[in-house]
Amino acid sequence: LKGSGNRWGSVTLCLLPPRGDKVEIEAIVEMSSIHSLITEATDDKPNIVLIMADDLGIGDLGCYGNDTIRTPNIDRLAAEGVKLSQHISAASLCTPSRTAFLTGRYPIRSGMVSDENTRVIHSLSVPAGLPLNETTFAAVAKKQGYSTALIGKWHQGLNSRYRSDHNHHPYNYGFDYFYGMPFSLFTPCWPDPSRDTELAISCRLWICVQLLAVTALTLTFGKLSCWFRVPWFVILLMILFTFLLCCVWYYSYTSGLYWDCILMREEEITEQPMKAERAGSIMMKEAVSFLERHREEPFLLFYSFLHVHVPCPTMENFIGTSKHGLYGDNVQEMDFFVGKLLDAIDNLGLRNHTVIYFTSDHGGQLESRLGHVQLGGWNGIYKGGKGMGGWEGGIHVPGLLRWPGKLPAGKVIEEPTSLMDIFPTVAALTGGTVPQDRVIDGQNLMPLLQGAVQHSEHEFLFHYCGVYLHAARWNPKDSKYTMWKVHYVTPVFQPPGAQACYETKLCECSGEGVRYHDPPLLFDLSRDPSESTPLTGDTEPLYELVIKTVADAVQAHRKTIIPVQLQLGKELNEDRVWLKPCCGVFPFCLYSP
Ligand SMILES: *[C@@H]1O[C@H](CO)[C@@H](O)[C@H](O)[C@H]1NC(C)=O
Repeated sequence: LKGSGNRWGSVTLCLLPPRGDKVEIEAIVEMSSIHSLITEATDDKPNIVLIMADDLGIGDLGCYGNDTIRTPNIDRLAAEGVKLSQHISAASLCTPSRTAFLTGRYPIRSGMVSDENTRVIHSLSVPAGLPLNETTFAAVAKKQGYSTALIGKWHQGLNSRYRSDHNHHPYNYGFDYFYGMPFSLFTPCWPDPSRDTELAISCRLWICVQLLAVTALTLTFGKLSCWFRVPWFVILLMILFTFLLCCVWYYSYTSGLYWDCILMREEEITEQPMKAERAGSIMMKEAVSFLERHREEPFLLFYSFLHVHVPCPTMENFIGTSKHGLYGDNVQEMDFFVGKLLDAIDNLGLRNHTVIYFTSDHGGQLESRLGHVQLGGWNGIYKGGKGMGGWEGGIHVPGLLRWPGKLPAGKVIEEPTSLMDIFPTVAALTGGTVPQDRVIDGQNLMPLLQGAVQHSEHEFLFHYCGVYLHAARWNPKDSKYTMWKVHYVTPVFQPPGAQACYETKLCECSGEGVRYHDPPLLFDLSRDPSESTPLTGDTEPLYELVIKTVADAVQAHRKTIIPVQLQLGKELNEDRVWLKPCCGVFPFCLYSP
């Protein structure tokens, strides 16, 4: 660009079409028009910010009809962008749902599923993880010159052979930068809001006990006995002591707080165990500084909230701010952080060049409670929740997309869409391509979002529970307002009469814990979104046709599944002591700044 400062200038435009040769054009232009030219040009590679909440129910957001919880920032995204009202996750649990999100494929294709009751990566000391030959949206964007980052929860594995081989670190899947939790929040991560001092005491105690043990063992079995006569009862006491010590050690080995509640920056452990209630604000600082560092170049940020998973660690100034207890406070805190992120994007002048997406990995968990108070999300009118195979509550999640000037504002799209669609959409936005050597189940959302087409490409979607297909939906191509859903298997709720699996805490996918339906249950979600009354041959003239069409589709889908090793089955999803991450010299792994 020459002659800046004058009214007229000359500019050389270099056009790089996706196919064909580079074209250079030199032009004399009015300087004021250059700004819009540059704006247009950079929109070839818009920034992408993908925000994912953890376990958030669709009924927890103002923009999806909640009138008592305050989520103004997320609602703003909906008002300024497109709201997807039939946005479906590929699984109702974290690990498989996130795998599908990252890869655009049903998790059964990569083996990130299980035929057992443990259906997520069970801890940081298991060798399981997202297979390295899977391609994520980060890898696609990176190939197109994007800077990529994951901030927040990963839950796709960490080590596979030894303590810090980091074989399943986000680095190996196209993310240039990582800050966050390689695992997931779970109850031990936040034993008690006032645990700070407790934790410090128990950490010191633990180290003391270990040191004492080393000394004691040396004294007892070492040289000392040659110099003094040690009475037998002292030796017995020592043995007893060692035994107690082993118990303490055992406890610390198995304690999730020490071994799984950790924070990492890149490949370094920054907190072990982490202070859960302040992780959110550190994560936000990390995100803002990533945006600042990369404001000049295209970037993709996957901001993966630890909110609103139990135990809902919340900063003190948000405690008691909602009408819905700790859970509501945590949702409102998350919304506050969404606001921070949106502000940072605005302040850096990136608003119009940034596509923002918001979703939740799956529905809220009905079974999680704090005493007698509900601590999980609210799935609105939908039946069931987290961990169930096919009921809508577990898989029907919020989906918001904003790209000012490029996507309509305030539009609602009622066509079925999937979290798996983000993968090909990122490919389309970044000018990349999806891998051609495998089945991609997602569809590029842009034509639907921009109104170029009216109908979703998803005629069928399949709903899995681990490796087991529990249900499927059919959106016939020719009728816009029907959404058939067929259930082959449903979980047995307990205790009898309940609407979730309160006794087992998580519903099962097979065996005694489920009911097999032959003939299958049929619902029309457009008339009965809460799946309350199954249709029968007597009440629905199309019953036979629908059951047969969906059965054929299931059969055709099954033919495309190539058997692979199951990552989340028993073999790979069990603890190995030598894989436990450690910020110091094992087993002295405590670092809480
Ligand atoms: C709003 O969300 C809270 C918290 O999950 C829930 O208890 C409440 O029922 C929801 N209200 C509506 C109207 O959906």
